[in-house]
Amino acid sequence: MDISRVRKELENSVFGSKIVYYEVTDSTNIRAKELASEGAPHGTVIIADEQQAGKGRLNRKWVSPRGDNLMFSVVLRPNGEPDQVFFLTMLLALSVRKVLKNLLNLTALMKWPNDIYVSGKKAGGILTEFSVCRNQVDYVIIGMGLNVNWHPGRDSAILYPCTSLMQETGVRVERSLILIDALLQFEKYYQEGILGYGSAKTFKEEWNACSYVLGKKVVVSNGLEKVVGKAMEIEASGALIIKNELGHEERILWGDVSVESIEP
Ligand code: BTN
Repeated sequence: MDISRVRKELENSVFGSKIVYYEVTDSTNIRAKELASEGAPHGTVIIADEQQAGKGRLNRKWVSPRGDNLMFSVVLRPNGEPDQVFFLTMLLALSVRKVLKNLLNLTALMKWPNDIYVSGKKAGGILTEFSVCRNQVDYVIIGMGLNVNWHPGRDSAILYPCTSLMQETGVRVERSLILIDALLQFEKYYQEGILGYGSAKTFKEEWNACSYVLGKKVVVSNGLEKVVGKAMEIEASGALIIKNELGHEERILWGDVSVESIEP
């Protein structure tokens, strides 16, 4: 990781105010939470080359060999309510999507709730955690893992078909370039989307347009139940709307989606 380049290129960005880099740590989300609870400012970034307790959604582990991939977390302090948190997560996902297109000409899709898919395989994931005080967000931690220069097919601990940027492009990719551009883009989207600057862009339309699951027959399971139906929409709150086999719409708030076919 070319950390001095990251610091230099982000020096005028909100994400340049505090950058903490670890060669090895437990989890950048754990580090970020600790810093946030000690008062770390909005825009703090924590980056690691290796995580020994990397966390995924639903209490899973995030496995990533040392030095190959991108693992980072950002601390945000929006003035808002908890229902904004999904929106923030999507802004980072859309930023990374844009950078993958611009730098590598790769088309990424979002698999609900917040996985990044390239060529039908998982290339990255996001774990968002937040703290609330009197129904106002105190801080949000958005942690992203992106497979950059790894051959995920070789690892037997993986649950899903995975890919990496190197696997998709055939060339090694400099991780710091992806990180810098993603954070600069995220800053722009944050200003447009949360602070209300510039054009009133409809990010919700954008994440629905690049969804991996919409229009497909899916099975959503959350450990308690399984819902089968056609994925219709992802609301601004993050809920996935499914038309079930009886033709009724259901709002799914959390779970794992598997795609069964293009048309039910
Ligand atoms: C998922 O797909 O389940 C989400 C994976 C999120 C992994 C990233 S790596 C950086 C940050 N630190 C963590 O411990 N997890 C997130």
